[in-house]
Amino acid sequence: MEQIKIFAPATIANVSCGFDVLGLALDNVGDEMTIKKVAQKGVTITKIIGQDLPLETHKNVAGVAALALLAETDSEFGFEIEINKRIKPGSGIGSSAASSAGAVWAINELLGKPFGKTDLVRFAMEGERLATGVAHADNVAPALFGGFTLVRSYEPLDVININTPSELYATVIHPQIEVKTSDAREILRTTVSLKDAIKQWGNVGGLISGLYTEDYDLIGRSLEDHVIEPIRSILIPAFDSVKKNSIKAGALGCGISGSGPSIFALSKGEETALKVGEAMKAVYNKVGIEYDVHVSKVNKEGIKILE
Ligand code: HSE
Repeated sequence: MEQIKIFAPATIANVSCGFDVLGLALDNVGDEMTIKKVAQKGVTITKIIGQDLPLETHKNVAGVAALALLAETDSEFGFEIEINKRIKPGSGIGSSAASSAGAVWAINELLGKPFGKTDLVRFAMEGERLATGVAHADNVAPALFGGFTLVRSYEPLDVININTPSELYATVIHPQIEVKTSDAREILRTTVSLKDAIKQWGNVGGLISGLYTEDYDLIGRSLEDHVIEPIRSILIPAFDSVKKNSIKAGALGCGISGSGPSIFALSKGEETALKVGEAMKAVYNKVGIEYDVHVSKVNKEGIKILE
């Protein structure tokens, strides 16, 4: 195999209660990437379609992640990467993570799979470090593993793939403003009160239990964030109305997707997820904010081969 074309999914990080540890992959939103094995060593970004992003390997998240992988091999080959950027940077659905994860996943395939998924997460995290200043794994882990993932520990890295109930759908609305993850992290407090921590870890446990037992009501009750959302929601236009309308339309829960500005909701079944999308749109139509909406099943596979 000399060349591979892949789909690298968008992801929702945090999933309300799990800041920096929980994430899920989307099914129909993502980047397309073509990775070619070539004789000349090193990594070259040959083309980026759709967004104005750096082609220099050291300034590109896919390039940096690929170099991190190659540094741990004695590969005789080099790799050329072409990216069709379908996920807008700064949208809060793991744009940098998709490209980083896609690059390392494809190179691993072309090398005959010398690395396991947790190693690939570790390499892709270097792309996140470049993009946001922090090597968080809650977007790259679901992109690589598929479904829901939990980063149980960063040191040592321990990523767990969580059961994904089949009827779980995500609705995401992206108001057309850009929020840089680095800015959205800067405004956070560095300490949490014991009272809030108790609520938060109760919800993380509840969400994981709900996902395994496929108890949709428990999943809904657990989609609460007492730590990050109260601070970050001020960056997102009409956040409270979008959340209120989504729940009213039948969503199990609703919160900030990653560092925003996208807002996500989870629903049982596609019909409800579509209704939730309409309810979200109604809010932004009223206040005159442009948006994109995605309705997607949770993607259990992660990255997929297209050609
Ligand atoms: N956990 C990260 C954050 C995700 O919320 O800053 C960024 O997409």
